[in-house]
Amino acid sequence: MGEMRRVYLDNAATTMQKPPCVVEAVTAALTSFGNSGRDTGGHALDASRVIYDARCLISDLFNLGNPKQVVFTCNSTEALNMAIRGLFHRGDHVISSVMEHNAVLRPLYDIEEDQGVSHTFIGVDEKGRLLVSEIEKNIRPETKALIFTHASNVTGNANDLHAIGKIAKKHGLLFIVDASQTAGVLPIDMQDMNIDIVAFTGHKGLYGPQGTGGMAIREGIDIHPLKSGGTGVLSYLKHQPEEMPTHLECGTMNAHGLAGLHASLNWLVKEVGIDQVHAHEIALAKRFYEGLKDMEAIRFYGDYDTDQRAAIVSLNIADYDSSEVSDQLESDYGISTRPGAHCAPLIHEAMGTVNQGMVRFAFSWFNTEEDVDYAVKAVRELATDI
Ligand SMILES: Cc1ncc(COP(=O)(O)O)c(C=O)c1O
Repeated sequence: MGEMRRVYLDNAATTMQKPPCVVEAVTAALTSFGNSGRDTGGHALDASRVIYDARCLISDLFNLGNPKQVVFTCNSTEALNMAIRGLFHRGDHVISSVMEHNAVLRPLYDIEEDQGVSHTFIGVDEKGRLLVSEIEKNIRPETKALIFTHASNVTGNANDLHAIGKIAKKHGLLFIVDASQTAGVLPIDMQDMNIDIVAFTGHKGLYGPQGTGGMAIREGIDIHPLKSGGTGVLSYLKHQPEEMPTHLECGTMNAHGLAGLHASLNWLVKEVGIDQVHAHEIALAKRFYEGLKDMEAIRFYGDYDTDQRAAIVSLNIADYDSSEVSDQLESDYGISTRPGAHCAPLIHEAMGTVNQGMVRFAFSWFNTEEDVDYAVKAVRELATDI
């Protein structure tokens, strides 16, 4: 018997395959980097330079306009925690949505309990699209911020950041975007879209290593540090220095990971182009959807009539548990997908899939049409067998 084909379609969790330049950059860093910011020796400076250059690339990617306002964290969860826990005061109110990941929801529940900061979650329509018209109706005198994901990690639907940014500007509210699914995938222009904070993770659409991520923060926004500790500078201060990015960074940086992120950003932006990557991924997602949409037993979630979305297709086969379907895809076909609730409970409540979950297929630059056709064949077989 031949070896089973293996197809990785869980790229919304993490892009498993990275460009070779990322592997090379991390490998080189592992034997050449000193501790950035802690030493003036050549090896430490090598690390510092690459980290600074990565800040510049992130600042350019989001049109932030100031690399010192880019803070690195170990993922977007840490960045979102920093922003959500470090910005608000007792009595404040924020508006968010049922599309959010637990990286936003849980900090919001926590600050409600610990700091008396209330929230309102905006709902979605039957295709899981945000009800943007509900945002303004829910603004109160004490509302301080709009916190929205750019794209749902469950349906792939993307929110219109221009439209939400206009509302934020009109009402003088902070606009915080969770770009975990879209950084490096869809264009994000902080100035044009009036965004104050973009939280990003390095290991998904940016094709960098796990353990990298961060926040791009508009100048003048003061986030109370989540952590304090060694910064390599101003050691006699009792508190975190005010200067950015040190204000929000302490402890030894993940310079090895950031060397990989630096390489992946160069690859993504200068070599391939994010439009190209998105066009490829979305073409694969479309091919997958088109190959299955005639099957009566299959139910899709999300809006597939637009290309302004993440390359995610979530579905169920009749009333089969999503975990069973996902297990079968893995064991019988070697196809990796992600079943269940995807750390986003409220969108599953809204779509009526709390018990069943959904089977999520997510495509990357490294997937091929052959991968898609193989997955279509597998799902068709499972959906026919029932
Ligand atoms: C929309 C969204 N937000 C936040 C996160 C958290 O990302 P990380 O685990 O890299 O912090 C994810 C990851 O699944 C996500 O999809």
